[in-house]
Amino acid sequence: MTSHTIQTLRELVKQDRVHRDVYEDPDIFELEMERVFGRSWVFVGHESQVKNPGDYFCSWVGLQPVVMARHSDGKVHVFHNRCSHRGVRVVNEVQGNAKLLRCMFHGWTYHTNGELAGVTQPEGYPKGYTFDPVQMGMPRVARQESYHGFVFIALDPNVPSFREYFKGVLAALDDLVAYSPENEVEITGGILRYGYPGNWKFQTDNACDMYHVVYSHESSSSGKAQYVRRTGDKSGIPFFDDQGKILTFDASGLWAFDGGHGWEGPVVQSHGNSAKWYRDYEERLKKSHGPERAHQILTRKRHNTIFWPSVVIQDLNMHIRWVRPIAVDKTEVIILPIKLRGAPEEMFEESIRMLNTTNSAASITQADDVEAFIRGHAGNRTRNGNPWILLARGHADSEVSDPAYDRGVKSFGSSEMLLRKQYQAWVHLMTA
Ligand SMILES: [Fe+2]
Repeated sequence: MTSHTIQTLRELVKQDRVHRDVYEDPDIFELEMERVFGRSWVFVGHESQVKNPGDYFCSWVGLQPVVMARHSDGKVHVFHNRCSHRGVRVVNEVQGNAKLLRCMFHGWTYHTNGELAGVTQPEGYPKGYTFDPVQMGMPRVARQESYHGFVFIALDPNVPSFREYFKGVLAALDDLVAYSPENEVEITGGILRYGYPGNWKFQTDNACDMYHVVYSHESSSSGKAQYVRRTGDKSGIPFFDDQGKILTFDASGLWAFDGGHGWEGPVVQSHGNSAKWYRDYEERLKKSHGPERAHQILTRKRHNTIFWPSVVIQDLNMHIRWVRPIAVDKTEVIILPIKLRGAPEEMFEESIRMLNTTNSAASITQADDVEAFIRGHAGNRTRNGNPWILLARGHADSEVSDPAYDRGVKSFGSSEMLLRKQYQAWVHLMTA
């Protein structure tokens, strides 16, 4: 039983700081699973992961297992991964294809829309005992939306509408699919996974943190700039000027929306103009969208975008970075490569190679972030002195509304505005 009340929860989040208990208290973690993940629109997968009838993908919302499956009606259904008999998790493989989903405990089966298909040894139940296929099925989630194939669900039927919840951050998905000559993306090419002994919010906090980059990732630069990310690029992301002075990302900008969503502006880097596949790609884009629109599309608008609290999408080396809370001090991060339909195959191969370099368990950059999360967890165990985590960079004066995006607010790159929005959303959901 939690010792927290609405009042004590409110006291954990101030205008410019958050109490360390938000990251360290197991009771708060349990409440978050119920109130943050249970009251938000949460990413559960992409429709391209279940292309054919019978395809399924195991997902989750907070700690609750769900299944995303394509049924014989061609539709994608999301339902709780729980047998109506004894409550056992029915589907356990990450993904696959099945005619029926069968519980290993007593053999009950379900259709790929979650409805009950069969009860074993039915003669053993009392005469007249009936099993309604829906009532005794794997229960559907309360709300489900698909946006460019990205599937989000809500467990609470009373959440705001999908568009009201995400507001202008949805522009990031519109722009992402526009990179595809066919205006469509798919998730394929395998999954990278890594874990860390620390709270899930270290990763969501870090998603659009442009303040840490040159410090945490200093070892990923040689001389003035970071490593070259793609064949044909002239250089990597610049870190230092000719005098060795740190270059900030402040000019790139940061955008935020109520609810804790937002993105960091594009990082300067030389695109692979000299690689043949890149020129092929540009030609394909011009052919399908026209030269002017292709130019607009290729003028990058963002680096990482967070759809708080569950998922981050990166624009540079396109991937989904999915945050899976396991315990107050245990988190798994799942990396799903994004493939642009209609783009040259070499482009996707390059992207996968680069994700191994940047976002795998032993990568050049993500390992730095994970180390910071681990040290964050260790440091916040300190029980004396200052219990606060400071989120004061940038202030109301530096924030201007951006009419280009539905209720968007802009600040400078290293501002902590987006973190403040996330903890305002956190306290709102936790105390609603
Ligand atoms: Fe980082």
